[in-house]
Parts: sequence; C-alpha cells; structure tokens
Amino acid sequence: MQVHVADHPLISHKLSVLRDETTPSPVFRALTSELVTLLAYEATRHIRVEDHQITTPVTTTTGKKLAKPRPVVVPILRAGLGMLEGMTQLLPSAEVGFLGMVRDEKTLQPSVYAERLPEDLSDRQVFILDPMLATGGSLLQAINYVFDKGATEVTAVCLLGAPEGLAALEEATKGRNVTIVLGALDEKLNEHGFIVPGLGDAGDRLYGTVG
Ligand code: PRP
Repeated sequence: MQVHVADHPLISHKLSVLRDETTPSPVFRALTSELVTLLAYEATRHIRVEDHQITTPVTTTTGKKLAKPRPVVVPILRAGLGMLEGMTQLLPSAEVGFLGMVRDEKTLQPSVYAERLPEDLSDRQVFILDPMLATGGSLLQAINYVFDKGATEVTAVCLLGAPEGLAALEEATKGRNVTIVLGALDEKLNEHGFIVPGLGDAGDRLYGTVG
C-alpha cells in the first residue's frame, strides 16, 4: 500500500478552516470541494494516458489523452458525496459509481446500504472518495467491493486519516495495488472511533445536521 500525505500550505490552511467547529456547512462544502481538487492532482499522478495525434495552429504533434477504459470515481455516501464535484472538476470524463455505507456508532462496523457501480471493473482505475479514514473499516470494505468486481488498482482520497486505520488497511490490503492520498494524518482515534483532532462528523457538517 502506498500512502501520500499532502504537504502543501494551502491544504493545511483549508483543512484548518474545516476543522474549526464554527465553520458553517456552506463554507465547509466549498472548502471540501477545493481540497479534493488539490488532492486529486496527487491522486491522479499515475492515471493512464495514451498517445493522441493533434494539430496545433503550427504543426501536428503527439499529445496525450486519458486512456480507455475510463477511470471510475466512487464516492462513499453520504460524506463522500461532498467530494465528488471537486474530483470530477479535474476528471470530467470519469464514470461515477456510488456506494452507500454507514458505520454503526457502537460497534464501529460498516455496512453497505446502497450500491450502483459498473458491473465489471476489470482493468479500470478506481478512485474512492471518503473524507474520513478512522478505523479504516468502511474504506476496506469499499476497496474489497471494487476488487471483487475486477478492479486491480484503487486509489482512495481522504481529507483526514488516523494512524490506527492506516495500519489496519496496510495489513488487510497486502499484495494489492492500493494507494491512499490524505490531506493530513492526524494523531489518533478516540474511544468513540472519532479522529483526533479531526473535524467531527464530516457527513453531519457537510449536510447541516449538526446544531
Ligand atoms: C463516516 C465517514 C467514513 C466512516 C469512517 O461515515 O464518512 O465513511 O465513517 O469510519 P471508519 O474508518 O471507522 O469506517 P458515517 O458512517 O458517519 O456515514 P455518513 O458518511 O453517512 O456520515
């Protein structure tokens, strides 16, 4: 498993505003989008391209275009939906699939409640979007889901991660082509499975169900 933790002052700045409990939902949504676009730049570093003949006003030359089959972007509902627009701004031709998952507040076990993915993901590059990597249970289940459908290469984009979740994922995805791109790696999980210092419940903060 490869892990990239963003190291850019603009990302740190925007994340600090997201973490602030007084940041209202509309600002939270806008910043999430901006952050994802910045992280997507790193996440798509190895996206497959192919040669493409083009004619400029001066001459003909060989350029690049995204290779077929198209990449697939999979936001994990609910909170991952807040990351979709930021990702598709950078990757407008990607196909989009959806996975709805919820984590039981007591057991912290994730379960899938909705799925709309392409039937066959063979040879597709898959980008999973979920703002929080806490215990890693949700992301692992999502990764397994897309591998079961034939994907061979998965990149997850998360705003925040906890070391415990990252270690669990590392162990569980051994031998598979998995990359995790994080806006920041936080300190730890608390006894409720929340990332510390974190930003609270991303889904609630995105969709205004807090306060
Ligand atoms: C949150 C978050 C992740 C998951 C992370 O979702 O968006 O999907 O928990 O936790 P884990 O790494 O321990 O599995 P939640 O279950 O709160 O659902 P929501 O997106 O609908 O808010």
